Order: sequence, then structure tokens, then C-alpha cells
Amino acid sequence: MGPNPLQLLEELCGNLKLSAGMKVLDMGCGKGLTSVFLAKEFGVTVFANDLWIDPGENLGRFEAAGVSDRVFPIRAEAHALPYAKGFFDAAIAIDSYHYFGADELYFPCTFSKFVKPGGQFGIVVPGLMQEFENGCPENLRPFWFGENVDGEMFSFHSAAWWRSLWEKTGIVNITSCRNIPDPKEIWYPWAHWGKAFGKEHFGHDFTGDDVEFLDADTENQIALIALTAVKNSR
Ligand SMILES: C[S@@+](CC[C@H](N)C(=O)[O-])C[C@H]1O[C@@H](n2cnc3c(N)ncnc32)[C@H](O)[C@@H]1O
Repeated sequence: MGPNPLQLLEELCGNLKLSAGMKVLDMGCGKGLTSVFLAKEFGVTVFANDLWIDPGENLGRFEAAGVSDRVFPIRAEAHALPYAKGFFDAAIAIDSYHYFGADELYFPCTFSKFVKPGGQFGIVVPGLMQEFENGCPENLRPFWFGENVDGEMFSFHSAAWWRSLWEKTGIVNITSCRNIPDPKEIWYPWAHWGKAFGKEHFGHDFTGDDVEFLDADTENQIALIALTAVKNSR
């Protein structure tokens, strides 16, 4: 549902320590490809949590992949998660955390609570190489301020911004925070696929303007950011 989720997850896993039997929250898992990968690659149990995708549909995919005994499809909104505090060994989110987690409160008041002390967090978000110091540049303005945009782009921030958002809470130690190399090489194939087949696949609301968006980014300001952290014991 976004730029190569499996490649983004692999970029993240290099900085996570996952082992068989761990319980992992895959937040905003979409169609659950990352959840299947986590179960097969690491033998972890995955709670495949999403909002837009029907969990029944995801269950069919988990059964077909032979992992339905350890990947559980859940539909829950990010601010109304049904899990016990400290339940998970790790929580990850691929190309989804920026939709709900780019405010000051979400990490300390919600997301961090579901992972046990010593547990891990890992997210990959689309963002910016640097914060816009003089406002949104002209070439990108249609995507931030255009007629049919919904304001979602204001969740795009730099790696340093994301690091600070979590670090200042004192809840975690940041273990890695970096821009994934060559983000457009990862993003363009998805963008071209979306332009060609997105409406057919996701319905007519699908805007599919990622090609135009990436083309407009002539200064290469768009980034894919990978952030990992470990929860402090206290
Ligand atoms: C761009 S898709 C990415 C899906 C998947 N991780 C991938 O990379 O293909 C973003 C996902 O975030 C989920 N999401 C967005 N807002 C959410 C919210 N408020 N609560 C829970 N999930 C949310 C959507 O359901 C959607 O599947």
C-alpha cells in the first residue's frame, strides 16, 4: 500500500533484535505483508493491526501464507488500541506512523505504553531530508496546499525531528535514526504501479499522484526515515 514495505522493513530489522516467541505489534500493517514476513523470518507472533483494511481479508492472506496460527488480524484505530499495557516485546510501523503519531502526545501517552520495559520500537516514515526553513518550497506547494489535498503532508518531517519527538519523552533510548539511501529508487516503482493500477486496486478515491509528487521534488528533499528505540526500564 506504499513504497516497498518489505524493503523498508528489512532496512529497519538491521537495527532491531527480534527472536522466536516475541510478541510484535505491526501497527498500520495494511495488507499485512510485513506481518507475514516478521512471522516467517523471525518466528515472532504478530498482531497485525490496521484501520482501513478488513481483518477478514487479511486473515485470508495469513492463512494462504501458512502463518494464521501466529499472525492475528485486528482492526483498531491508533488511539483506541485494545491491548494490555506492556504486552508487546516490540512495536513496528511501516509507512503508517506519520498518519497518527506526528503529534507530541501519541508516543508518550499511547504507543509507548503497549511495549514492555526493555522492549523495542521501529518505524519507517516518509519525510524530509531537512525541515523547511523558509516554508514549503514552491515546487512542492501543490502537494501541501493544493485544492484537493487533505493536510496529510504536514506530517512530513526530518529524521532529527522524529528523533527529538521520541527522545525528549525520556521513555526510550534511540538506537538508530537515519535516512534510508536512495529513497526514490524504492518509491518510484510503487508510484508507477499506483498510477497504472491504483484506482482499479484500491477504488476511485485513490489519488495516485506519487509520480507527480516525486517528479516535483527536484531538490531531492523527500526522505524515507528509519527510527528504532528501546524502552527504558523504570
Ligand atoms: C500507506 S498505508 C501502509 C500500509 C502498510 N504498512 C504498507 O506499507 O503497505 C498506511 C496504513 O496506515 C493505517 N492507518 C492510518 N491511520 C490509522 C489510524 N488512525 N489507526 C490505525 N491505522 C491507521 C491505514 O489503515 C493504512 O493501512
